[in-house]
Amino acid sequence: LLPRDVSIVEMAPRDGLQNEKKIIPTEAKVALVDRISNCGFERIEVTSFVSHKWVPQLADAKEVMASIRRRPGVRYAVLTPNMRGFEAAMLAGADEVAIFASASESFSRHNINCSIAESIEQFRPVALASKERGIPLRGYVSCVVECPYEGAVSPSASADVVEQLHRLGCYEISLGDTIGKGRPEAVDRMLLTVLSSAPATMLAGHFHDTDGWALENIGVSLEHGLRVFDASVGGLGGCPYAPGSAGNVDTLAVANYLSRKGFRTGLLTEKLQEAAAFAHSLRSAD
Ligand code: HMG
Ligand code: MG
Repeated sequence: LLPRDVSIVEMAPRDGLQNEKKIIPTEAKVALVDRISNCGFERIEVTSFVSHKWVPQLADAKEVMASIRRRPGVRYAVLTPNMRGFEAAMLAGADEVAIFASASESFSRHNINCSIAESIEQFRPVALASKERGIPLRGYVSCVVECPYEGAVSPSASADVVEQLHRLGCYEISLGDTIGKGRPEAVDRMLLTVLSSAPATMLAGHFHDTDGWALENIGVSLEHGLRVFDASVGGLGGCPYAPGSAGNVDTLAVANYLSRKGFRTGLLTEKLQEAAAFAHSLRSAD
């Protein structure tokens, strides 16, 4: 990747919708993904193969994957916390899978019902299986700066989990400010430490925009050499196990911000606007 090229990974169908209370019809999810497929993304996170009890909104993961129109050159990714999720993802034809850990013990318990160490053990067979099948494996670390249950998270806690995901063979590790409370100074400190565990070329920034710091946090990350960011059309999003978490940073806002700074994303503004309008129409009035 040339230094001026930035890749945005689209999150709306997964991180964007997983927190919506009202169950959105499968056809509408498919229509959202199909619109997003026209925007110029290389990677789209479509859904999660997780427990239906934990995330009822994404219980139709298999049906969504079966109905989307796949655009050549786009990788359709899904979350897979365990082997059951991985097997289902393979049957559904996922191009990429992701495992998701946390830098905070409390969030790990609330999100995936186990400790950080236990989660790494659960991910190990998923990592092995994805390697065997040649499926790219992405990793997430949630709560890299702030945890909804514990407050500030130490940079070394984040770096430690990044290192473990790196060792499991993740080609890229996405650093999540899950509740969007991370200040640029805290993100800066976190990155300085995390960069001793993995190079910038293997890291992505995943910022939620609760307190309006997301774009500045992307700016700080760019200075540290990161060139991949997660975002969500229409700023959709929030995590069910992170009380108070707002949407992912808006894709169009990120694309405009990057373009003002002289970076290229390859995204099509008009198509992004269309996708964002459609994303908004799915949202329950609150
Ligand atoms: P558990 O309850 O500890 O363990 O769940 P379990 O193995 O006993 O499973 C419970 C039930 O789920 C069982 O069903 C399993 O069969 C079923 P029952 O016997 O009770 O009828 N089950 C599954 N069903 C479908 N697909 C599967 C699967 N696995 C088990 N793969 C588990 C552990 C990890 C499964 C659960 O806690 C879970 O699904 N958690 C998912 C939570 C989640 O999706 N959170 C949001 C995504 S992470 C996020 O948003 C952060 C991120 O955006 C970055 C950031 O912002 O920081 C990535
Ligand atoms: Mg998230």
